[in-house]
Amino acid sequence: MPRSILVTSALPYANGPTHLGHVTETVQTDIWVRFQRLRGHECHYVCADDTHGTPIMLQARAEGITPEALIERVGVERRRSFAGFRIGFDNYYTTHSPENRHYTELVFKALDAAGHIDRRPVVQAYDEQAGMFLPDRYVKGHCPRCDAPDQYGDSCEACGATYSPSDLKNPVSVLSGTAPIQRESEHLFFKLGHFEDMLRAWTRSGTLHPAVTNKLDEWFEAGLRDWDVSRDAPYFGFEIPGAPGKFFYVWLDAPIGYMASFDDLCRRTGLDFDAYWRPGGNTELHHFIGKDILYFHSLFWPATLEGAGFRKPDGVHVHGFLTINGQKMSKSRGTFVTAERYLELLPAEYFRYFIAGKLGPGVDDFDLNLEEFTTRINAEIVGKLVNLASRCAPFITRGHDGLLASALPDPALHADFARAGESIASLFEAREYAAAIREIMALADRANQYVDAHKPWVLARDPARASEVQAVATQALNLFRMLMAWLKPVMPDMATRAEAFLGAPIRHWDDAGTPLLGTRIQPYDPLASRLDLALVNKLVETPPSTPQPPPPPPEGTGEVDIETFQKVDLRVARIASAELVEGADKLLKLSLDLGEGGSRQVFAGIRAAYDPATLVDRLVVVVANLKPRKMRFGVSEGMVLAAGPGGEDIFLLAPDAGARPGMRVK
Ligand code: 2FM
Ligand code: ZN
Repeated sequence: MPRSILVTSALPYANGPTHLGHVTETVQTDIWVRFQRLRGHECHYVCADDTHGTPIMLQARAEGITPEALIERVGVERRRSFAGFRIGFDNYYTTHSPENRHYTELVFKALDAAGHIDRRPVVQAYDEQAGMFLPDRYVKGHCPRCDAPDQYGDSCEACGATYSPSDLKNPVSVLSGTAPIQRESEHLFFKLGHFEDMLRAWTRSGTLHPAVTNKLDEWFEAGLRDWDVSRDAPYFGFEIPGAPGKFFYVWLDAPIGYMASFDDLCRRTGLDFDAYWRPGGNTELHHFIGKDILYFHSLFWPATLEGAGFRKPDGVHVHGFLTINGQKMSKSRGTFVTAERYLELLPAEYFRYFIAGKLGPGVDDFDLNLEEFTTRINAEIVGKLVNLASRCAPFITRGHDGLLASALPDPALHADFARAGESIASLFEAREYAAAIREIMALADRANQYVDAHKPWVLARDPARASEVQAVATQALNLFRMLMAWLKPVMPDMATRAEAFLGAPIRHWDDAGTPLLGTRIQPYDPLASRLDLALVNKLVETPPSTPQPPPPPPEGTGEVDIETFQKVDLRVARIASAELVEGADKLLKLSLDLGEGGSRQVFAGIRAAYDPATLVDRLVVVVANLKPRKMRFGVSEGMVLAAGPGGEDIFLLAPDAGARPGMRVK
């Protein structure tokens, strides 16, 4: 019975380049979509850029352009990158669209009318110079617990405390450098708790993988708190009807962007929107997302849908994060690989294949190890899969004018493969791609063993055995065709080229089960070529092709006279050891060698940016006369200098190679 399925990937924020993390998620989704279509189902795939919110507004400001111009530019790059990876969206839209405004207002009004929206005042940090309320990450100050300077408004990188911006000591706005005031404003809250019973039932109804339901239990235990869905002007988003100067929080309208993108598709194709979004329709709705946005998709989203009279998703499929050579994607380590950079260097389908070989239905992270990538492509795609076609095709094209034999010499072997197609299909259906790839490759081994056992190249020496040669090659090419059919969702281009070579389309999963006999094939053109590790390594050798502009620097933080500045004793130090600090996920404990100046222990908030093993023996610049500070994990006796906006983007300042530990930095 053909199914009617609507599928989405998470909407990427429109303020940065497409990177391999985005690509991984869309590849995972695209494989599932192509698989469903190949099985004969109707499957629509929509996505969009997530365009609203403070960071996008501020980035546009920093670049001196309007948010509309920024999201337009990012949208163009995004579509190009995804197309390069053969992501077959039916629609890639934007959340800054009339359709999205329409559905966001519709959802909000329905929730409000049903009593699910509360209005109450909130006191928040406000930057009088910038004229705006400050999200937590835009306020910095001294930690209320350990007094560490330069901490964000939500948590301390030095001692791990969490708090609200109003608790910070000496707070300053990162936008203007001025001290924020506390100002009250009315906000609108969605009463998530009204939906607790529904959510408990829905999250246990098979919509989520067991690997994530524990997390949900924790959230239910902690209690479902009201969700603030409004933000004050200035904000880039949709103004809330009846509340001038108030805007919908980006996370309210972002998932509604799934509906808006589909609505735009319906307008162009005549599809029935309500059949997919109103309850009771005979259709399915599936979202693919990363584990970081589970709360939004497993609690807020189904609750808003239910509250506004829409259907809930049938599946929320959650994946872990991509690491590269075992490291988180990070600009400072060169492991932030943009989609564009990958496409400049390597074939898109190799990435699709490799990632498919890593993905299962769970939430574990998975690694793109570049050596393993190179080895697997060469061994599996070139050595096993394509090798079957390249070595058997000439026996047909040269010796038999391109004609396949009229019967298979081993029909049982063919039937065995065809039967395996069903179990492979079940694996794809369950998003067990890695297991599916393993099974396909095991069958590729069997097909190669068949060729090795029959040695057509030996038979071909004897003209009397020409029809045997033709039969063996026909058998092998038909096995190859089945493998290619199952890999078609993963490598659609290669499959299309294989179809042209074999002179027969694969329109349905089962098509290759019926062997090609007595038909003509085309001369073989290479379907894949070997990868060179040196080329693959270039992925991590160069900085990203589209660097993001840094956030605006703080202004007017006050001046320091030269005498005060000269009191700071800056020295070259060698990192003698670097260790993780248990219980502090942002810190590294460094032992510094200052030559004659002795040694120091320093806690530095650089863990997101550096692997401790790579730091040993590195020269850094340190404030050597900073008063020792007692922190939760020990005493910190200095400060290592680094630049950058924070998180992964922290860059240690490096003295010249000729510098020696202990030298004064002028
Ligand atoms: O986390 C993110 O990158 C969000 N832009 C994802 C939004 S998904 C959906 F809800 F729109
Ligand atoms: Zn602290």
